[in-house]
This record gives sequence, C-alpha cells and structure tokens, in this order.
Amino acid sequence: MKISPARSAAFDILLKIERDRAFSSILLPEYEKQLTPRDRALCHRLTLGVLRRQLFLDHYINGAARSKNLDLAVHVSLRLGLFQLWFLDKVPAHSAVNESVELVHRAKKSSARTMVNAILRRAKQKPEYSNLADEIERISIESSHPRWLIEKWANQFGADETARLAEANNTESALSFRLTARAPADLSFAGTRPSSSVPGCFLVDKMTPKLSAASADGLIYFQDEGSQLVAAAVDIPFGGSFLDVCASPGSKVTQIAALNASVFPVAGDIYSHRTRFLLENLRSQGVTDAAVVQYDAETTMPFRGKAFDSVLVDAPCTGTGTIRHNPELRYFIRPGDPAELSKKQLRILKNASNLVKEGGSLIYSTCSLEVEEGEQVVDEFIAAESSFRLVQPSVPASHITEAGYARTRPDIDGMDGFFIAALERIRQS
Ligand SMILES: C[S@@+](CC[C@H](N)C(=O)[O-])C[C@H]1O[C@@H](n2cnc3c(N)ncnc32)[C@H](O)[C@@H]1O
Repeated sequence: MKISPARSAAFDILLKIERDRAFSSILLPEYEKQLTPRDRALCHRLTLGVLRRQLFLDHYINGAARSKNLDLAVHVSLRLGLFQLWFLDKVPAHSAVNESVELVHRAKKSSARTMVNAILRRAKQKPEYSNLADEIERISIESSHPRWLIEKWANQFGADETARLAEANNTESALSFRLTARAPADLSFAGTRPSSSVPGCFLVDKMTPKLSAASADGLIYFQDEGSQLVAAAVDIPFGGSFLDVCASPGSKVTQIAALNASVFPVAGDIYSHRTRFLLENLRSQGVTDAAVVQYDAETTMPFRGKAFDSVLVDAPCTGTGTIRHNPELRYFIRPGDPAELSKKQLRILKNASNLVKEGGSLIYSTCSLEVEEGEQVVDEFIAAESSFRLVQPSVPASHITEAGYARTRPDIDGMDGFFIAALERIRQS
C-alpha cells in the first residue's frame, strides 16, 4: 500500500525530532519543499499536532501496548494514527489506520504491524482519562506538557492559569510580521491588522501568496509580536551607538536597524554558523551598514570601555515562552535548565553592562517564562551593580509587572512569552 507523502514526511520529521533533538521549525520547511501545497498543509498539521498532543497520545499507547519498550518507529506511527483518529475530522479512519500500519512495515518493523493495527482499530474515540493521579497530572496529560513543568508553573501562576497557558501553547497563533529596511514605508497588505502593542507590527490569520512573495523578497519579516515588542523597547539616541550582544538570527537587530536609520548597529554571537546566518539575515533585509562580530559574551568582548549608548542582551534561555511555535521544546528542557542558564545569563549581563556609557541604556530580555531567567537574574544584577538603576521598559502599560519589568504570555497577550528589563547606567556627574 502507498503511503501519502504528507504522512511519510511527518513520520520522518517526528522520528528525527525524537532521535536527534531536532526542531520542527527547521525540519518542516526542508521536507515541505518537496510537497504539494495540500500535502504541505497536512504534513504541518500532523507534525505539530502530534507534538502538541504527544503525552496525551502516549498515555493511551502505554496502556494499550503490552511492551513498555516500544521501538521508536512503532511508537511514532501509533502517535500519528491516534492523532488523526482523535483530532482530525476530515481524515478517514481507514487511511489513518492503514497508513500507520504501512509506516511500520516501511520502517522494517513488520512484526509490529498486527499490534499497531489492533490498537488503532480499537481506539475509535478520544478517551476521557479517569486514572490520573491529581490535578497537576490532569493538566500535564491533557495539555501534553511534562509534569515537572506544569508543577513549576502551577507554583508560579496557580493551577487554573497554568491550564490556560499550557492549552494556549497548543493553539495556532496568528502570524505577525513587520516591514524590513528594504521595504517602501507605505507597503501594505489587505486582510492584515495592526498590533495594539507594537507600532509597525501587523497580524494576519493565515499566509497569503502576496505575503509569502514579500517575505521571499526580503520586504517583510515574520517575527512574533513579543519579539518585536522587545526590539521596540530598545531606546537609542539619534546617531547613537548600539550593540546587540546575543544577536543571531538577527530578528531584533534587523528590526532596530529598520526603525533607526541613523544608527550603525553592532551585532555579535558566539557561534560562527550563527554569525554567518546573522549576516545573511542582515543582507536579505537590506541592512548594509552594520558590523557582525563573533565572541563569547561570558568572557571577553572585543570592545574598549563604555562604548555604547544602548546595549541589548537578548540572552540564551530555555525558550519556555515560545513553546507555541516550538512544541517539541517542552520535551527537551530539563528541570535544572532554568537555574543553570540563569548563571550564564547573569555572567553575560554583567559583562555586557561594562560596555554601556553613562546615561546609556541596557535592555535584558529572554523568551522564557521562568523567574529564574528573568526577575531573579536582574534582581541579582541590580543588587551587585550600584551604577545601574531599573527604569520602566518602553512598552504599553498592560505588559508592565508590579516589579517594573515587562512580561508577555501567549494565553494573556496572544504573543510569545517574553521578559524585558530596562536598566540605565547612572551618570556620575
Ligand atoms: C535568544 S537567542 C538571540 C535571538 C536574537 N536576539 C534575535 O532576536 O534573533 C540567543 C543567542 O545567544 C547566542 N549565545 C549563546 N551564548 C552566547 C555567548 N556566550 N556569547 C554570545 N552569544 C551567545 C546564541 O548562539 C543565540 O544565537
């Protein structure tokens, strides 16, 4: 029996994600190049859908399969089959079952065909699980987030908010984009709406051929509204100097360059492949006057003294605010990661702060929802650095927290979860 190209691609992508800790955002465009628009749409829905419901599917699979140690290919084909049976109305049950069985055969696991066939044929209706230990377990399985993360968020936000947040992570978000430095200022597109939080950010419910062509031509850039909010909060005086410390792939520095024609941005990153990518992104968006530097911001950076009017530290982080766009991330992050990363973030922030001029501005941001990577890093920095003071980030008041930082959340703001702190080096005279 023939396997549809969409299911075959989704199966291969899901295997790679699990085997190699690969990312769907990288693999989907690679695989989808070879697919028709229809297959592309199905492959997309299957891949992201299975990732978003993986623990829910696995809870059933673990009960139904006798063997605890299922072969990965068999496991993935079961997830794909169950997801189609329970979550996709338009897929005929026989296609979902037969093609999953065939995928097992193609993966040379023919001995498991009978079991896969039997499990899928019995699983007609999406189950209501009644055997879950407690509320945390219920949220964890129903929203498919690891228990430790749900527990952590429940301590931080309460159980009800956590359930809403975790469910928001499983929804398709509106697409957000902005014009690049290359675009005519009056370029506009029908069917889009302006963001109420970020000037210059536009939202649209689905991709259109015109938007896709404008993106390919480097006229517009798709970037989450939360990420655009961070760059919009960066304050640079006319003709001032600006450093983006952790800049690749360059979403924020290219936005800053498009907004501030008088500024010559300097942008750096630790990895050569990421600085190359950063350069490509700057070029494709028409940012010609900029410098790209490779360094380790935890140790030494190739700048002398307090060289910059404005510095952005968009630090490496767990990325828990972006799970909506990167559904597999929830399975990759480990409980110790936020605390571990916070040490690195503080080292980078301290090091970068040395480069800020008197009266200059320092923005610290992450796309993490975790306090260890946000508030705690900045509180510790402020406690040790009396030459800096906290100022309110330039974002709408609705995003400002009681402590004077800014936070966004997918369930509350409809954008990725970002943390922003704005600091200013106090003038000595
Ligand atoms: C959150 S991403 C930055 C995203 C970027 N600002 C944007 O808007 O596109 C963090 C970046 O920090 C870089 N990074 C990690 N450790 C670093 C270090 N020690 N020094 C410099 N860059 C580092 C990573 O390679 C990654 O590209």
